[in-house]
Amino acid sequence: MTKLTVKNLTFGLLLLIAFSISPIFPIFSTGTAAAHSNETNAALTRIENSPLTYVLPSPATDGNVSVEAALANRRSHRRFQDRAISAEQLSQILWAAYGITSPNPHPNLRGGLRTAPSAGALFPLEIYAVVGNVEGIEPGVYRYIADGHKIVRVIDRDVRGELAEAALGQRMVSEAPASVFFSAVFSRTTGIYGERGRRYVYMEIGHSAQNVYLQAQALGLGTCAIGAFTDGRVGQLLELPANEEPLYLMPIGYHQ
Ligand SMILES: Cc1cc2nc3c(=O)[nH]c(=O)nc-3n(C[C@H](O)[C@H](O)[C@H](O)COP(=O)(O)O)c2cc1C
Repeated sequence: MTKLTVKNLTFGLLLLIAFSISPIFPIFSTGTAAAHSNETNAALTRIENSPLTYVLPSPATDGNVSVEAALANRRSHRRFQDRAISAEQLSQILWAAYGITSPNPHPNLRGGLRTAPSAGALFPLEIYAVVGNVEGIEPGVYRYIADGHKIVRVIDRDVRGELAEAALGQRMVSEAPASVFFSAVFSRTTGIYGERGRRYVYMEIGHSAQNVYLQAQALGLGTCAIGAFTDGRVGQLLELPANEEPLYLMPIGYHQ
């Protein structure tokens, strides 16, 4: 182990300890999902900004399907009905992936602690919604902004067909009404943890993706984790910034 790695690990450990004793650090004091209660947004709100932005309906923090039932019935689904999903369903899926559950104003947290754990609370993932057939939302590609639970359009056309081609022709990507796409800014995590941070990012995307699987199951929807695609083509198609690496794609919809 190099000296640099030991230093990074020590710093990382200190960060983790700081979080574990968070009540004595005001910046790490956590609210609860209920802290959102005075900011709830019952309906989808379209904001005619440039770029086009939607504030998503507030997510539910309770439901009719138990975690056990969602786990017992989770499966990867690859055939989807030609049927729209609602903005509420998309909102719920994005929240499950990386939504805020404990708002916190510290700038490093970009809104607060999330539905998925993150080494040192550095939150390296970026989440996109690839929208084709979602009620009330124009087709396009949107970046999910957890702080404020909104989506901001980055591409203003339906790219599902091209994305399916970039994913080695996997038809489910063009058939599903929407997909969740994950990229990562590795430097957020490797900047603190060094090379070891790369493995942390891979672990973290697994947490988020499993949340999406379970949330889809609980909503009566299907999904499939897709890792097989051409990175360069996907990066170009989705116009990813240079510091973001494409990682995972999850089509969402009513399965057959
Ligand atoms: C990292 C990873 C990458 C995957 N990539 C693909 C993919 O590109 N295409 C696909 O059809 N399924 C993909 N899958 C889904 C697996 O094929 C699926 O999870 C496996 O067959 C087990 O089935 P289950 O998810 O229904 O339990 C991937 C799963 C993981 C974890």
